[in-house]
Amino acid sequence: MHSFRYVGKELYCEDVALSALAKKHGTPLYVYSEATLTDHYTKLDEALAALDHRICFAMKSNSNLAVIRTLAGLGSGFDVVSAGELARTIAAGGDPTKCVFAGVGKTEEEIAYALKQGIYSFNVESEAELQRISKVALRLKKIAPVAVRVNPNIDAHTHAKITTGTYENKFGIAFEEVEKVYARAAKLSNIRLRGIQMHIGSQLTDVAPFRKAVEKVAPLVDRLSQKHGFDFFSIGGGIGIVYQDALASGDPAWWSGSKGKGILTPAAYAAELVPLLKPLGLKILLEPGRFLSGNAGALVTRVEYIKRTGKKNFVIVDAAMNDLIRPAFYDSYHEIVPLTRKGGATIPSDVVGPICESGDYFAKDRPLPKVGEGDHLALLSAGAYGSVMGSNYNSRGLAAEVLVKGKKSALVRRRQELSEIWALESKAPWQA
Ligand SMILES: Cc1ncc(COP(=O)(O)O)c(C=O)c1O
Repeated sequence: MHSFRYVGKELYCEDVALSALAKKHGTPLYVYSEATLTDHYTKLDEALAALDHRICFAMKSNSNLAVIRTLAGLGSGFDVVSAGELARTIAAGGDPTKCVFAGVGKTEEEIAYALKQGIYSFNVESEAELQRISKVALRLKKIAPVAVRVNPNIDAHTHAKITTGTYENKFGIAFEEVEKVYARAAKLSNIRLRGIQMHIGSQLTDVAPFRKAVEKVAPLVDRLSQKHGFDFFSIGGGIGIVYQDALASGDPAWWSGSKGKGILTPAAYAAELVPLLKPLGLKILLEPGRFLSGNAGALVTRVEYIKRTGKKNFVIVDAAMNDLIRPAFYDSYHEIVPLTRKGGATIPSDVVGPICESGDYFAKDRPLPKVGEGDHLALLSAGAYGSVMGSNYNSRGLAAEVLVKGKKSALVRRRQELSEIWALESKAPWQA
């Protein structure tokens, strides 16, 4: 249950008016709610109480140090996909021994770093990677804990760019191959076969594909675990969130039913999966990203211009695709609401940024209240795969980020100065 709501005419994050934050820190501005992160983590944690389990936050969804620190404080582990993410976890006070390291392209340097930090497990995506991990572990005189990522070939029925569990994708090892791969891996030196992992896709709002995947994979897990003495089975992340009615979903009533109105609640997820997982007798790992961070964040932006053409009402804002690329990248929907609620009729509007790309838009033909220059808007559900995908395209500085806790707020990433954008660059020696 998230903490963005109108109090009178003003949009608040917890007990802080977003307009006050926009005034203090400028825009574009990401605002995160600590209460929402905590609530979502706790709901999931409690729903899984019947299992020995660990939540490993997929920090690719939001790797701000303050967000990681909040979750680390709740006991979360982390799903990392690079040495950089592992280093960030440690910098934020996260525990590397609760980290799993995923990704298809781990370099030798990254493997060595993760081994030295004592991570919980490598989630391995290929046999070549197993051999590389074995080689590095041998050199460092370490035993590498590994889990093979099984690709169960289950269609998650989500956006093509976030489906990962079918044979069209680069991820994991085909279901039919996995047992042979484990048999070969068992012969590699300095490898400990600690578990098995899967992740079928992201933004799943129905529990059925999760159930199908667990039903298919559980007997394999059981067989392999008996043979190799597993500690854990990671069922990945992927729990979807509300984008369409994001504001309304802050109402506790949405969470009270087992299925909510289109919400995949932790209770509904657990009710289906716990009975399938419990008999395995293993620690169950989850790697939720979006579920924890998505509805916990909003991107606040200022209206720069209104441009009316024969066909369109363009609302040109100061945020752009370099701040939030999801609409351009995934055609994704973000609810857009004014910081100060407006009455009157709505106008179909295209909300666009200043970048020189037709793809630089946040909404097309969206019914929006009449807004004008200097008004502020919030793009909701922007806490996952938002700021982390930010870039300096068009030499635009990275947005600032604020964390809210009750009445308190803190700048947890300052706005990038222009000179910092090219700080890593220099002239060639032959240039005057
Ligand atoms: C291996 C793995 N685990 C977890 C996640 C997190 O997914 P989500 O944010 O949908 O929970 C991803 C997302 O790409 C992933 O690839």
